[in-house]
Amino acid sequence: FSAFLTDSFNRQHDYLRISITEKCNLRCLYCMPEEGVPLSPPAHLLTTPEIVYLSSLFVSQGVTKIRLTGGEPTVRKDIVPMMQALGNLRRDGLRELCLTTNGISLHRKLDAMAEAGLTGVNLSLDTLDPFQFQIMTRRNGFEAVMKSIARIEEMNKAGAGIKLKINCVVMRGLNEREIVPFVEMGRDRDIEVRFIEYMPFGGNKWSEGKMVPYQEMLSLIREQYPALEKVTDHKNDTSKTYRVPGFTGKVGFITSMTHNFCGTCNRLRITSDGNLKVCLHGNAEVSLRDLIRRGNNGLPIDEQAMEALDLESSERELLDVIGMAVKRKKAKHAGIGRLE
Ligand code: GTP
Ligand code: 5AD
Ligand code: SF4
Repeated sequence: FSAFLTDSFNRQHDYLRISITEKCNLRCLYCMPEEGVPLSPPAHLLTTPEIVYLSSLFVSQGVTKIRLTGGEPTVRKDIVPMMQALGNLRRDGLRELCLTTNGISLHRKLDAMAEAGLTGVNLSLDTLDPFQFQIMTRRNGFEAVMKSIARIEEMNKAGAGIKLKINCVVMRGLNEREIVPFVEMGRDRDIEVRFIEYMPFGGNKWSEGKMVPYQEMLSLIREQYPALEKVTDHKNDTSKTYRVPGFTGKVGFITSMTHNFCGTCNRLRITSDGNLKVCLHGNAEVSLRDLIRRGNNGLPIDEQAMEALDLESSERELLDVIGMAVKRKKAKHAGIGRLE
């Protein structure tokens, strides 16, 4: 495994998360204020050729899994061609190509994405009630999300093999009553529902009282399903997985607040404006965008410019910079920062 992607605690980073936009078509209470987040000037965002180039560099160093995130990644108009280009990296060792999405406009693009090599969808859904959906996301769109879920299941029946996980952020007084109905979804369906502890970030109105801790969620589920049992987790999972005997689906918990999982962290992130972040909770480490644009007078690199550029000559320097950031990664995060 590449020394550049191995940190000083011997954690090997084979999972790259790329945020491809800051924009979102929802306004979830726990994530964004009604007015949205401040947006970078478009020229500051990585172009598709830049994202594909950086991805190929990371894959050449041993990255086997790429996840596109946002904001909401599907609002980016060129997400399908981007996935097609990323799908080609399977030849070079990429094994998983995933998406974290709210599912609002996913159904329209799913077929093309599956064709491109999409292997997993983590879909954010906090409620099964259309009215509550409107309260928690401040927008309409519940039916569209259901349509995306149905389409994934339909495609999977035909053999698409897209692993579906539902991310449900639990907030006291809002949706903790829905934990049991969410577990019920997995009775006959191959879905993993993961309950996430509500975390503070981006200036949301977090308070400890609104967070429902893992142990409490677990007791709540056990009241209804006493046979709930632990399943062995994969090495680098953020979640603790359980199953109800006889159910097709699984249940997981992302315990961001009560247990950290830094010791087995294998993730690196690239922000939409091209910074490398070695930890979700840390600051931007270094601008990969500025480095790759140097040969293009600092301008965004489109397809044409990409062909004309000699990026190979600066590759070593790019890897050195990435390697140094990875080596500075701390054993554990000190606090809570911005998500994605
Ligand atoms: P897979 O394991 O690839 O299925 O995805 P994931 O759970 O890492 O990613 P997803 O985008 O579905 O995010 C779900 C939740 O995981 C987020 O709300 C975060 O709470 C948490 N999370 C994701 N990445 C990190 C990370 O690097 N550090 C920490 N502390 N939490 C993370
Ligand atoms: N606390 C916990 N999870 C959050 N997410 C967004 N904001 C928060 C928060 N404050 C979740 C989303 C999405 C995932 C990427 O992060 O629901 O599923
Ligand atoms: Fe958008 Fe996801 Fe934030 Fe909700 S949690 S506002 S869907 S980015």
